[in-house]
Parts: sequence; structure tokens; C-alpha cells
Amino acid sequence: MVALWATACTPQLTPREQALALTLSPVPGPPPSATNAVADNPAAAALGKALFFDPALSADGARSCASCHDPAKHFTDGQQFAAGVGAGPGGSRNVPSVESAAWQTWYFWDGRADSAWSQATGPIRNPIEMNNTAAGVRDHVLAAYVAPWTPVFGPVADDPDVVLAQVGKAIESFERTLSPGPARFDQYVADLRTGTVSTALTEEELRGLRLFIDSGCVNCHNGPLFTDHSFHNIGVPQVARGGLDAGRAIGAVQVQRDPFNCLGAFADRPGPAGEGAPEPCPELRFLDNSFPDWPLAFKTPSLRNVTHTAPYMHDGSMATLDAVLMFYSELPGTPLAGHRELTLQPLRLSAADRADVVSFLGTLDGISP
Ligand code: HEC
Ligand code: HEC
Repeated sequence: MVALWATACTPQLTPREQALALTLSPVPGPPPSATNAVADNPAAAALGKALFFDPALSADGARSCASCHDPAKHFTDGQQFAAGVGAGPGGSRNVPSVESAAWQTWYFWDGRADSAWSQATGPIRNPIEMNNTAAGVRDHVLAAYVAPWTPVFGPVADDPDVVLAQVGKAIESFERTLSPGPARFDQYVADLRTGTVSTALTEEELRGLRLFIDSGCVNCHNGPLFTDHSFHNIGVPQVARGGLDAGRAIGAVQVQRDPFNCLGAFADRPGPAGEGAPEPCPELRFLDNSFPDWPLAFKTPSLRNVTHTAPYMHDGSMATLDAVLMFYSELPGTPLAGHRELTLQPLRLSAADRADVVSFLGTLDGISP
């Protein structure tokens, strides 16, 4: 009787909604790293963790990766833009989490890196982030890391770029130990899968889930990480800081030219080689940098733990999740270049609908196992 009562009062998912919900969970283990031979080596992960938290990796010794990617804030900094070095100007983009780094295909809002290890070589050398050089990094490894380094990579290489890439590979190995964590939503889907009447979500959250599916959010925020790993111009009104941000249109060119990319000399090939082996780097080889939809397109962010990572969007211009839902409701303005994704239409959600979707997003918060 209790089960019948619960069924009658719970907003029921249609068969189509159920089928879609099943594709959103659980989060699988990280896919293999195609270009990092030490990706799953625990000694490399321990070394990478030390490097991630080491301020001496920056030129002035004042800033580590964790200064901007704070574990207490789900590896973000809570600011609209990343702070600059010293009193210098900060960046023009919002700090994304690194909890889901292991599952990404492209890195940065514009996808200008194609692996987690090559991504890590960016901020180390960025003048407004850590402002170091490959030679400076090699000196620091020699001064502080020879003991944990040698069992992972052998003797410290002469070529500073090799050492820089290896620092990135150790950091990637550490990032692969992170995860957004199982969430209440995963319990709900597990119950759905076994046909158990679920108490994991409230009615409000279930209504939000249905709206999330039926309003087309899943067209882009799909799969267990709630991202299609692609780029879209959704027409976020860009706030002026350093001029127009062209997003993927520039990122696609940059990743092709990056010496640390998948096709470059620093990429390992841990997978099968020789005749019959698949050609490496399909995503990079088939990337069309003049695709007409790239101007002002940004990477679809994962929505796991999204309630903890305000403010939102590539430019941190939306302070709350309700502001994001207002944006999708109204789609104000027209993009300054390119065109807004044609599938997007103003959703005209009521305040109650918006609150339901926001409460659903809260069910993606990781819970301690
Ligand atoms: C000054 C602040 C700052 C520092 C220091 C910093 N980052 Fe970031 N990080 C950012 C910002 C801002 C972005 C987004 C930049 C962009 O898209 O252009 C970013 C992006 C990333 C991403 C991409 C996530 C994704 O989903 O695309 C990863 C991974 C990452 N950082 C890891 C690191 C590592 C590893 C270090 C240290 C070697 C580091 N960061 C140092 C601010 C910082
Ligand atoms: C056409 C693809 C697409 C659709 C449909 C879509 N999104 Fe997005 N979403 C994106 C992209 C791309 C961004 C980042 C845009 C930027 O920063 O300029 C984003 C950003 C977000 C963010 C900010 C996350 C963060 O960490 O900054 C949230 C929250 C979000 N979307 C929720 C939703 C919801 C809820 C819906 C349905 C009402 C939806 N999205 C529909 C592509 C889409």
C-alpha cells in the first residue's frame, strides 16, 4: 500500500524521460589517457598532488594551482575572474572546477588544450597566472623533487620542455584521482534501474528533472557528466574585459598549433602501436577550426556540483543559478558575433519552474561515500 501511495503522489517520468534519465548516471571510471603513460601510476599521482599544491611552481613562489582551484570550493575560487599575479590584472575568464578533468576531451572554456597534462603546462607559463618558464620548472624539480621524480620518470631530462610536460603528466595523474562524487541523483537513477520506488528526490526535484529533460537542457548537458564535451554560442551577454572573447574560434586554432598537443613530440603512446592500431588523436585530426558555429562558442560545462561553483558562465557574469535560469528563460540580446545556437528558444519559465530546475541541479551535489 505504501508503495502505491508513493507512486500516485510522485510526478511520474514518462518512458522517454526515464530512458533519458538512465543515460545521465552513474559516472563511469575515467576513460584511459591516450597520451600519458603514467596517468594511472599512484606514485605519479602523489607527485602530481604535491606539485598541484606547491606555490614554488610559480615564478614568485606565491601561487599554486590550488590558489585558484581551492579544494574547499570544489576546486574553484568563488570569484568572477581569476586574480592576477601580484597587483597585476587578472584573467578574463571564470575558474572552472578540475574535479571532472579526467573525463574532459577539451580543456579551458575555449578548448585550447586537448589533454589534462598539456592543459597544466598553460597556467605555469601564463604571465598573469604562475609566470614561470620551462627552465624555471626544471630547476625547481631538480631542487625539490628528485627523490619522488626518479621512480616515475627516471633521471630529470635535459630538455626543459620534456620536464614541463612530465610535470603536467604527474598533475593529470593526480586529477584522475578526483571525481565529482556520487550524488542523490545517482541513487534515484539506480532505483529507477532496479524498479525500486525511490525516495531519493523530492517532488520539487523530480519536477525539475522533468523540466531539465523536456526543456532541452539535455541537448547539451548530457551524459553522466552533464556535458556533450562540445562548444556552443548560447549568447551569454559578454561583460567587457579585454574586449570580445571569441571562444572556440580562437581555441580551435590554438590547440592545433600547441606543441604539447596529442600529435606533438611530448605525447606518450601507451596504447597498442604498429599495424592495425587505430590512428592516434582522432578529435584533433578531424578538428575544423573554421567551423562557422565556433565564434563566441564556449565549452558546455559539467553541471555536477554546480551549486557550489558560483558565479557562472565563462565570464562569471551570472551570480546565481536562478540568474542562469532567467537567462535561458529570456535569452536577452543578440551575440556580438556569430549567432546564437539555433536550437535555443526562450523557455519562458515561471518562477516556480525555475526554482524546480535549480532544486534538481542541487541533486547533482556529490555526497560523501
Ligand atoms: C590564476 C588562477 C589560476 C591558476 C594559478 C591556475 N588556474 Fe587552472 N584555470 C584558471 C582559469 C581562469 C581557467 C579557465 C581559463 C580559460 O578557459 O581560458 C582554468 C582552467 C583550468 C582547467 C580546465 C578545466 C576545464 O574543464 O576546461 C584545468 C584542468 C586547470 N585549470 C588546472 C590547473 C592546474 C593543474 C594549475 C597549476 C599548474 C592551474 N590550473 C593553475 C585559473 C587558474
Ligand atoms: C545549446 C546547448 C545548451 C543548452 C540547450 C543548455 N546549455 Fe547550459 N550551457 C551551455 C554552454 C555552452 C554553457 C557555457 C556558456 C558560456 O560560458 O558562455 C552553459 C552554461 C550553463 C550553466 C553554467 C555552469 C557553470 O559552471 O558556469 C548552467 C548552470 C547551465 N548551463 C544550465 C543549463 C540548463 C538548466 C539548461 C536548460 C534550461 C541549459 N543549460 C541548456 C550549453 C547549453
